[in-house]
Amino acid sequence: MKITMVGAGYVGLVTGTCFAEIGHNVLCVDNDARKIEMLTKRRMPIYEEGLEDLVIRNMDKERLRFTTSIKEGTEFAEVIFIAVGTPPGYHGEPNLSYVEQVGRQVAAHMTDYRLLVEKSTVPVNTGIQLKRTVSKYLREKVDFDVASNPEFLREGSAVHDAFNPDRIVVGVESERAARLLREIYEPIISRSGCEFLVMNIPSAELTKHASNSFLATKISFINAVSRVCELAGADIEQVAHGMGLDPRIGPSFLRAGVGYGGSCFPKDVDAFVHLADQLGYDFRLLREVQRINQGQREHLLRKIQHELWVIQDKVIAIFGLAFKPGTDDIREAPSLYFVSELLKEKAKLRLWDPVATEKFRSVYPDLDYFDDPLECAKGAELLLILTDWPQIRQIDLARLKEAMKCPAIIDGRNMFDPRTMREMGFDYSCVGRP
Ligand SMILES: NC(=O)c1ccc[n+]([C@@H]2O[C@H](COP(=O)([O-])OP(=O)(O)OC[C@H]3O[C@@H](n4cnc5c(N)ncnc54)[C@H](O)[C@@H]3O)[C@@H](O)[C@H]2O)c1
Repeated sequence: MKITMVGAGYVGLVTGTCFAEIGHNVLCVDNDARKIEMLTKRRMPIYEEGLEDLVIRNMDKERLRFTTSIKEGTEFAEVIFIAVGTPPGYHGEPNLSYVEQVGRQVAAHMTDYRLLVEKSTVPVNTGIQLKRTVSKYLREKVDFDVASNPEFLREGSAVHDAFNPDRIVVGVESERAARLLREIYEPIISRSGCEFLVMNIPSAELTKHASNSFLATKISFINAVSRVCELAGADIEQVAHGMGLDPRIGPSFLRAGVGYGGSCFPKDVDAFVHLADQLGYDFRLLREVQRINQGQREHLLRKIQHELWVIQDKVIAIFGLAFKPGTDDIREAPSLYFVSELLKEKAKLRLWDPVATEKFRSVYPDLDYFDDPLECAKGAELLLILTDWPQIRQIDLARLKEAMKCPAIIDGRNMFDPRTMREMGFDYSCVGRP
């Protein structure tokens, strides 16, 4: 089938490429000319494992193309996915102007039936708004459908997730829309055996927000328990393991740490709180989830203050700038908070990340970045671990200790065994463990 994917970011590029790989003919549209130029020259604007090979292979097979022209995208395919950004607005409500803009632009070029599919994460009832906008900006009377198909892939394993989804959720208003989406996903459904859930549009929209908010709640819950562990002399790793073996709870998202970040959880929880408010429900549980998340960062900052006493002029190495391993995405990453706070206190920062350095450098061009973690730790009076990159676990701890001026580590991801670290002579502090 022919498919147009509007927005060639983390979601659009990965899903568009995945659709090409399963045999569809895909045109990706993005209004960022630099991004499209890079992609046309086979250079990746983002890091995601396995993506580059897949993009190049499908470009070679002429099943994947890129353009900045929404007109070309509208004319190209019957099904148009919208995977543009929905960043947070001023009061926590998502900024839907990009989605609205695509709706207007597609309407202006539509001459035949089109199915517009919301893949971006949007609040419930965005489908209705999108439908109204398209109707309003149509130049001639054309039949069209709007559908919702929220995306559940995770950065860091996005390519794998796109081929092996837990479920595919579609919200539709017509048989035709359901049939078209089923046809698109058929190869993935038969390969992965995942469920294809058809529901109405508001339910599909809400499924996404509820899922992300629930996962954020799980993270804040375990972080809150980690604070109690610190006060009670218990070990959060053991507590979480004991909890996670209960199949009603499950082990995932029970890792205490520095709190959630990234481009989705903070904004999606915010959006859900805001939306519930608008509908007349005060979602206090989620407000508390947000408060705990912020508190977790502040708690770690206090540990740094406690460790160093005076932060000014202290050399602090930071391992991990990406919001999680496997991605170069730094949106809402904990590193942004800590770098900003530590710079206010006039610390001297040395930074290492295996793939996110360039993105971080565009925000902080004048800081010291290193390719090698041991080089980064040289002369440090404190090492702060913010992303659980596997490279950190493999580091030669004896050499790390030798490189640092004072072997103090604050580990926001519980990557090492506290007893081993102490035995090696580190002053090691982590989250929720004695
Ligand atoms: N990143 C994730 O892990 C993830 C997972 C699930 C859902 N989502 C949701 O998917 C959506 C996209 O997220 P993302 O991380 O891919 O964002 P992104 O910022 O990486 O990509 C969005 C792309 O849309 C393009 N764009 C914006 N307006 C446009 C327009 N009018 N015409 C053409 N292109 C336009 C931008 O240039 C950008 O390349 C968001 O709603 C997000 O919440 C993201």
